[in-house]
Amino acid sequence: MWYVNGHRMSTGRGPTMQKVADNIYTLEAGLRFFGLPIDTRMTVINTADGVLVHSPVKAPVDILAGIGELRWAVAPNKFHHLYVGDWIDAGAEGWAAPGLPDKRKDLTFTGVLNEVGEPFGDEILAIPLTCFPMSNEVVLFHKPSRTLVVTDLVFNLSKQAKFSARAAFAMAGAYPGCKTSNLERILMKRDLARQDFETILAQEFDRIIMSHGDIVETGGKDALKHAFRWLL
Ligand SMILES: [Fe+2]
Repeated sequence: MWYVNGHRMSTGRGPTMQKVADNIYTLEAGLRFFGLPIDTRMTVINTADGVLVHSPVKAPVDILAGIGELRWAVAPNKFHHLYVGDWIDAGAEGWAAPGLPDKRKDLTFTGVLNEVGEPFGDEILAIPLTCFPMSNEVVLFHKPSRTLVVTDLVFNLSKQAKFSARAAFAMAGAYPGCKTSNLERILMKRDLARQDFETILAQEFDRIIMSHGDIVETGGKDALKHAFRWLL
């Protein structure tokens, strides 16, 4: 079953799409990450210029029926790229985080998101983080819904997540609550990070959608500042 425009649309099987706000939807899928069972979330943004899928999961392209026409598939960091090839094969322009094309030489990307800008039209601002080369995450800001779309920048694991995932995330300093991991605390280049966050925090976002955990529906800017209080 899936949900479009607030309505459950069911085939009796398959993934579940949820409307988050006007023109922004999410689809969750189970995945294993370093052996951990963890749900991962794809975000779908409908713009006047076409539909963007961020951090794509394995799903049929007709899941977009009733939303709009597929145009872009974004692999937003060096870890979230497993299914972007499926969406490129389905007709999307593939856009990659910096460094990812070297890791996925089997894929042909249209572009690399290596500077702050609007390659997906003026409704979406892309902000690449320069401070964490291990991931090279690119954050998207969807202006109409005041939503910041992040991948692994912060986690907000649900209490309903599998125990093993919660335990591992707690050991990594990333649970409970909306948090970063210890890896970021240790490895982030802090001078660059402060510059990156100046750009992010200058945007008028209220909601945060992340790839793992519960969406922060409101107060997202304060939640992000709190998660990065060790930096800011
Ligand atoms: Fe992730």
